[in-house]
Amino acid sequence: VAHPLSANKVRLLRTYITPAYRYDLPPFLMFTAIQLAKLSGFSPIITTASLHNESLLLSLGATHVFDRRLSNAALIKRVRALVTVPVTYIFDAVAVKETQQAAYALLAPGGTLVVVEKPQVGGDDDGSQKKVFMVIGSFHPLPNRALGAKFAIAMTAWLEEGKIKVRV
Ligand SMILES: NC(=O)c1ccc[n+]([C@@H]2O[C@H](COP(=O)([O-])OP(=O)(O)OC[C@H]3O[C@@H](n4cnc5c(N)ncnc54)[C@H](OP(=O)(O)O)[C@@H]3O)[C@@H](O)[C@H]2O)c1
Repeated sequence: VAHPLSANKVRLLRTYITPAYRYDLPPFLMFTAIQLAKLSGFSPIITTASLHNESLLLSLGATHVFDRRLSNAALIKRVRALVTVPVTYIFDAVAVKETQQAAYALLAPGGTLVVVEKPQVGGDDDGSQKKVFMVIGSFHPLPNRALGAKFAIAMTAWLEEGKIKVRV
């Protein structure tokens, strides 16, 4: 069945139903991604954030929170000192050039970086086999609908069971 709304109208509608912006909470995508990473069994879960959000992020499943104001060089040094195993998955929930560069540098050869904005790293074949993907959080495109149907059922249960908290 064709969707009755044009892409522009859907975008407008989403803008209207998005809750008022909260400046005192971690980024929306990070808030959810950390909980999904925990549910999926990832460990450790290392994130950057403003430190006033540290205890909230730890309660959601992050195991380590680094100040987002650290330079990329300092952040990379701190993470490398912390983890002794290769970092094979990074989800960049902010995805500005600087965060993508830090993530790409930290990623182990063959690892996967997922970004939520246009990729600004990778591309050239540097021989590292690092993979960079951009994800779009929408179940409207036809190829995503079957996954969306399954995800909606799972997410409803996780919300009822308190396994996923929402940021409002
Ligand atoms: N691909 C998709 O489907 C999709 C969907 C929605 C949004 N997006 C994109 O995803 C990005 C995030 O969106 P959002 O709605 O989750 O964000 P948001 O709720 O707007 O959060 C922005 C906040 O992120 C914090 N921040 C900035 N740099 C950071 C860093 N290096 N580490 C940790 N926190 C940092 C800042 O908060 P503090 O000052 O308090 O630290 C900033 O106010 C945006 O670029 C947006 O365009 C993509």
